[in-house]
Amino acid sequence: MLPPVPVLADYGISPTHGFLPEVLPLTRLPDPYYNKWEAIAANLQALILSKRLRGVVDRLPVLSTIGLEHDAEWRRAYLLLSFMAHGYIWGGDSPSDRLPPPIAIPLLKVSAHLEVPPVATYAAVCLWNFKPLFMDEDIDNLENLASLMTFTGAIDESWFYLVSVAMEARGAPIVPLMLTAIAAARENDANAVTKCLNTFAERLDDLTMLLLRMHENCDPTIFYNRIRPFLAGSKNMAEAGLPNGVLYEDNTGTETYRQYAGGSNAQSSLIQFFDIVLGIQHRPTGEKAAPPSERGREGHPPAPKHNFIMEMRQYMPGPHRRFLNDVQSVANIREYVEQNRSNTELCVAYDACLAMLRALRDKHIAIVTRYIVLPSKEVRARSRSPEVARRKVNLATASRQQPQGIAYDARGAANAAQKAADEKKSNLKGTGGTALISFLKQARDETGEPAIEEWTKRFMSRQPRAPGQNDFFAGKPEEGAGLQVQNTKEVEVAGLAGTWTMDDDVGGICNY
Ligand code: HEM
Repeated sequence: MLPPVPVLADYGISPTHGFLPEVLPLTRLPDPYYNKWEAIAANLQALILSKRLRGVVDRLPVLSTIGLEHDAEWRRAYLLLSFMAHGYIWGGDSPSDRLPPPIAIPLLKVSAHLEVPPVATYAAVCLWNFKPLFMDEDIDNLENLASLMTFTGAIDESWFYLVSVAMEARGAPIVPLMLTAIAAARENDANAVTKCLNTFAERLDDLTMLLLRMHENCDPTIFYNRIRPFLAGSKNMAEAGLPNGVLYEDNTGTETYRQYAGGSNAQSSLIQFFDIVLGIQHRPTGEKAAPPSERGREGHPPAPKHNFIMEMRQYMPGPHRRFLNDVQSVANIREYVEQNRSNTELCVAYDACLAMLRALRDKHIAIVTRYIVLPSKEVRARSRSPEVARRKVNLATASRQQPQGIAYDARGAANAAQKAADEKKSNLKGTGGTALISFLKQARDETGEPAIEEWTKRFMSRQPRAPGQNDFFAGKPEEGAGLQVQNTKEVEVAGLAGTWTMDDDVGGICNY
């Protein structure tokens, strides 16, 4: 007996807004009891700029969560508290390794209620942090969106969040569409499955177009030096000033230091839904593809591999996480297409989805190169100057003696080969970019692996660009910013020579 196809309403997922809430995020908490939180939120940037946030928060009373009624209110409270928490931790000359009771106590309660970690996750900064400018216009239109909260007040920060919001909104109809496809495959209705896949592929192209708009209003230097430090978590953050993580002072007397990853788009349930529904499997970095016999089938999914992408599920709202797990157990599209290889239209439609999702990941790598790898090289160059000693300590200025890998690497959870590779790396100074870019490239290449048609396989395995055809985002190949292997190597080696001490090159937004 096959498990039932999940019903969106059971997981609080909207058929029109997807993982964005059906009820728009509140712009303020209705109960005046919470006015003090709202007042801080309204002045967050000024309080951070004047370095008065910590003093103001320390003097706040500990407010109860008893006045929070509807889900939208709990989400607003989480938004306020998680922004205050990250502002408190990262908004001084050096990070605070404690969160005082006025934030810690309600944040722990609100997070437990919403089943999210008590940090600024993707749900806080994107999913629950937007409003439409005009109520009668769609929220998948970037020109109709505004952020409710930012740390910096910069349009770059709003834009960074809003591109994701628009992508979530534009991608939302794919969720019910592909549940329909799963049901159609059970009914052996190949036409219906093909139609769903064709629409899915077209929407994926829309999402890539939205992603490519990141550069319009988000400056890489501002992103790297001003925005990213506030999104940082407390895991692997010794060099940025948090050797133990953060103590959430909950007045129980039994507190211990906690460590969490920071906010990252890798916590988007939508992108993971795409992978699951298409039968794409992500392995620990460096691990080769499993033989078909280990791939699992509907009702018998393969045991999930522990990798970074899986780890990011822990940072999604609980119901979204459960939805992904349940979809995993009914995902049958890949198997269905493989059983119907003679149906060319079906196979082409399936391959088109893989190609489009792969293209999205390809563009994303170029963005990561432009927004993280290149600015980290600049910071590295600057870190050789004596001026650095006078600068404040945070993620942007952090330096390290030993490279730290992306979250799952650092935890040693990958296979032995990976561990050996990591150990080898840790003896090298300046392995910058290796873990991050190879992780992203592997995720991109795994996306193309299930392709059915020979020509699709060939198309997807070709080099993305011929010499001389620079990627707009990645810059010129001689700048070491392209996507090809040789360019990544340049990022790893050029000018490092033992003086490079930036963590930033081996992780991303949320691994610090
Ligand atoms: C300036 C823009 C962006 C930057 C600098 C950036 C950076 C990163 C980094 C560094 C990672 C590695 C994991 C981590 O440490 O967090 C990552 C992963 C990821 N990002 Fe982005 N990102 C950006 C925008 C986006 C957007 C708009 C999306 C929405 C689709 C997205 C989706 C993902 C996904 C799904 C992953 C997990 C890896 C994968 O599945 O391929 N990112 N990103």
